[in-house]
Amino acid sequence: MTADATPVLRVDGLAKRYGAPVLSDVSLAVAPGEVVALVGASGAGKTTLFRCITRLTEPDTGEIVIGGRALHGASGAELALARREIGLVFQQFNLIRRLDAVHNVLAGRLGHVPLWRVVARRFARADRQRALAALDRVGLLAQAYQRADSLSGGQQQRVAIARVLAQESRVILADEPVASLDAANARAVLSLFREIARERGIAVLCSLHQLDIAALYADRVIGLASGRLVVNRSARDFSHADRIKLFGVG
Ligand SMILES: Nc1ncnc2c1ncn2[C@@H]1O[C@H](COP(=O)(O)OP(=O)(O)OP(=O)(O)O)[C@@H](O)[C@H]1O
Ligand SMILES: [Mg+2]
Repeated sequence: MTADATPVLRVDGLAKRYGAPVLSDVSLAVAPGEVVALVGASGAGKTTLFRCITRLTEPDTGEIVIGGRALHGASGAELALARREIGLVFQQFNLIRRLDAVHNVLAGRLGHVPLWRVVARRFARADRQRALAALDRVGLLAQAYQRADSLSGGQQQRVAIARVLAQESRVILADEPVASLDAANARAVLSLFREIARERGIAVLCSLHQLDIAALYADRVIGLASGRLVVNRSARDFSHADRIKLFGVG
């Protein structure tokens, strides 16, 4: 969390065009244990930035380094290893609906477990125990064998977080993880991010629509406007002027 800690996620000079520029010269760093909120108007480039960091979308230029491992320029096994360090959480939970919670969490072990075992659902006892421990951490041990589609939205998002914990990644990228949740569940999910960041030294970069929530749960707020990073400051220093820079007058 300390500002001088070596960042676990570093992005330098990232750019992406789809005809017109969508991201221009974006540089950021997230330290272990730090929760950074990414804010910006619709179309500012938040989702594109997440996709470029994982290289699901190929950036035009820029460096992406995770835990000292370069993602830019990596391919094959090297890229897979670097991606294993990134846990993804989405607005729509992205669980396998007909599988129970524990098997959804085990899917987070994919980077660690051979594919045939996943297909055959033959996970080692240690993997299963890790999955149950992750569910316990998010308060869902009692729901471990319940089908994902029978869980509430808030519970499903906590399963998605347990899946990332089981993956043992060093970075969490969460694209609007609370946009489909009511206020109470949104707060519970963001508290959980904060706690696990602190406990495990995970770096969390999380896009949020609600600035008030960002200020409450994030250590730092970074803001994109038309693909440029125009705000980068501690959450408590976020100002009205920043709000206008990002969202215009009003
Ligand atoms: N595959 C694509 N092809 C062309 N343009 C794209 C593509 N993906 C994104 N864009 C454009 O890039 C810009 C940024 O989109 P992006 O989805 O990253 O915004 P966002 O900040 O996530 O918005 P929201 O808050 O609505 O989710 C938009 O103008 C969008 O139309
Ligand atoms: Mg988006």
